[in-house]
Amino acid sequence: GNRSSGRMGRALAREAARRSAEVTLIAANVDLEVPGGARVLRVRTAAELAEACWNELAASDVLLMSAAVADFRPAGPVNRKLKKNEGVPKLELEPTEDVLSRVAELRREDQVIVGFAAEHGDEAVELGRGKLERKRLDAIVVNDISRAGVGFESEENEVTILTADGRERQVARSRKEQVAGAVLDEVERLRAAKGGTDG
Ligand code: CTP
Repeated sequence: GNRSSGRMGRALAREAARRSAEVTLIAANVDLEVPGGARVLRVRTAAELAEACWNELAASDVLLMSAAVADFRPAGPVNRKLKKNEGVPKLELEPTEDVLSRVAELRREDQVIVGFAAEHGDEAVELGRGKLERKRLDAIVVNDISRAGVGFESEENEVTILTADGRERQVARSRKEQVAGAVLDEVERLRAAKGGTDG
């Protein structure tokens, strides 16, 4: 959907595996080294991502949705070459499915669902809070992409983790591995609060 590198997802997968979780990494359009111990499912489109998520949902305790999913796709893709002399094509778009919202609707009470929100500017945290509520998530990881040196294509990130039980934790600018650790600390806390075990 955008120039996201997939590094945050990889860091989360790696840190979860380090904490003895059984990890499935669903990856789209990224060329990253696979974290040790993770099962990897490759997808290419928002529709394939959605299908992979449905298939995995029932057997999962936690979903960490750091994928940058495109919100729209071409309504009429063609499977032939577009010739220049046919004129400038008009691209009509249609919405993709909001995978996270749908998962959050279908999930069991004991599952922990975490979204990510890349927002722009001073209202980032407020916008993130709106998404947390609207998508009915357990937590959302918000980053302000207007700041230099963090987020897309970067090794570092600086985030605020908001939870449905009202916590707000700021993670100062640090490597994505550290950010992943902070996110998983919150996940473990949320799981414990729901009565889940981490065995
Ligand atoms: N997401 C998703 N499916 C989509 C779009 C987004 O599952 N089609 C997920 C992302 O992986 C992320 C969260 O929803 O965890 C927030 O994504 P974002 O693009 O910020 O939210 P949108 O609902 O698309 O809102 P907007 O683009 O208007 O800010």
